[in-house]
Amino acid sequence: MEPKLLLLMVVEVVVLTVGAAASADYVRPPPRKTLHFPWTPKSSSYPQQVHISLAGAKHMRVTWVTSDKHSPSVVEYGTSPKNYTSKAEGENTRYSYFLYSSGNIHHTVIGPLEDNTVYFYRCGGEGPEFQLKTPPSQFPVTFAVAGDLGQTGWTKSTLDHIDQCKYDIHMLPGDLSYADYIQRKWDTFGELVQPLASARPWMVTQGNHEKENIPLLKDSFVSYNSRWKMPYEESGSDSNLYYSFDVAGIHAIMLGSYTDYDEYSDQYRWLKADLSKVDRERTPWLLVLFHVPWYNSNEAHQGEGDDMMTAMEPLLHAAGADVVFSGHVHAYERSKRVYNGKSDPCGAVHITIGDGGNKEGLAHKYKEPRPEWSVFREASFGHGELNVVNSTHAFWSWHRNDDDEPVRSDEVWLTSLIGSGCLAENSRELRKILSSP
Ligand SMILES: [Fe+2]
Repeated sequence: MEPKLLLLMVVEVVVLTVGAAASADYVRPPPRKTLHFPWTPKSSSYPQQVHISLAGAKHMRVTWVTSDKHSPSVVEYGTSPKNYTSKAEGENTRYSYFLYSSGNIHHTVIGPLEDNTVYFYRCGGEGPEFQLKTPPSQFPVTFAVAGDLGQTGWTKSTLDHIDQCKYDIHMLPGDLSYADYIQRKWDTFGELVQPLASARPWMVTQGNHEKENIPLLKDSFVSYNSRWKMPYEESGSDSNLYYSFDVAGIHAIMLGSYTDYDEYSDQYRWLKADLSKVDRERTPWLLVLFHVPWYNSNEAHQGEGDDMMTAMEPLLHAAGADVVFSGHVHAYERSKRVYNGKSDPCGAVHITIGDGGNKEGLAHKYKEPRPEWSVFREASFGHGELNVVNSTHAFWSWHRNDDDEPVRSDEVWLTSLIGSGCLAENSRELRKILSSP
């Protein structure tokens, strides 16, 4: 062997060994405190808690809160600053929760909008100007993914790191504010996320911390549904707890872990109807999000997703889901392609990313030995980025919040099932499930 080559190999071994040692010696930073916000009342018609979400092809829903009941649900917008060439009027709602009365929550759909274009907008005819960018209509498209956010110092760190990356859409697999019945905390969460959520669409689904029901007195999800209206009507669903959307060449399905999911449920029926309309030529990637993970080797929340998995995994497998994102467990884990509890080349990659930074801290304990399907697992706060490059390839990376730096700790190229033969192999099974009553 040439001495130069030998030297290179030695250097590589040293670097790998030091890298592995560094990872093993990684000292996790201490927990950070819950953020406390001074509540500063603004003029009653001043738009607060502004966030946007996709609302069908070429449309965006703008949501904001005013304390004034009579403030108009109007959004003015255009492609140049302070030059609003279009205007749309929407709806508004409010709710009460014992002694708490929410502000007026406005939902206004704007569009049709150009793809991949910056728009300037103003809510309710006053207040500051906001800026948003619409997603592209073609690859590449990038998603930021972080669940279980809450509102602590680590949440802030996660949001700051997401803000530094170039992305088109934020996807959140449940557990947003950790208000946990304290309704004012929904307001402070809205303010905390506004800088990001007013600029890029936030597509969210519900977690257990959204479920603020009091038997016989208050329905579950009253706050969540009032404040975070998602495009369920636009996607043929009758519930804000499950819906779908298309962006570039991706069909994304947002499911509800905390509503009925058995094969006779409305959600299951809607899922079948939704999948029957998916055209993989047009949307080669199929992504799915929900809160409670089905593949989880952490000690926390073991088995909680089993019933939903039994009910829905065969359908998602037959339909050829590529990636499933979930939260709930406050840690990060990535699986191989899996189905029915084990590796399967036609199954989905499952990614648990419930490590946004909430007040409950991290889930440190893992089951040993590590299951064969688990590729990477770590209990640290952070966020993920999915850059879908074309119809067959996407680059996934997970960024740990290391002190105040985002550190890319896990990365992998994912390939879609479109070119794999799996879709053809499973098409009979899919037709069978879809045609069952
Ligand atoms: Fe949760």
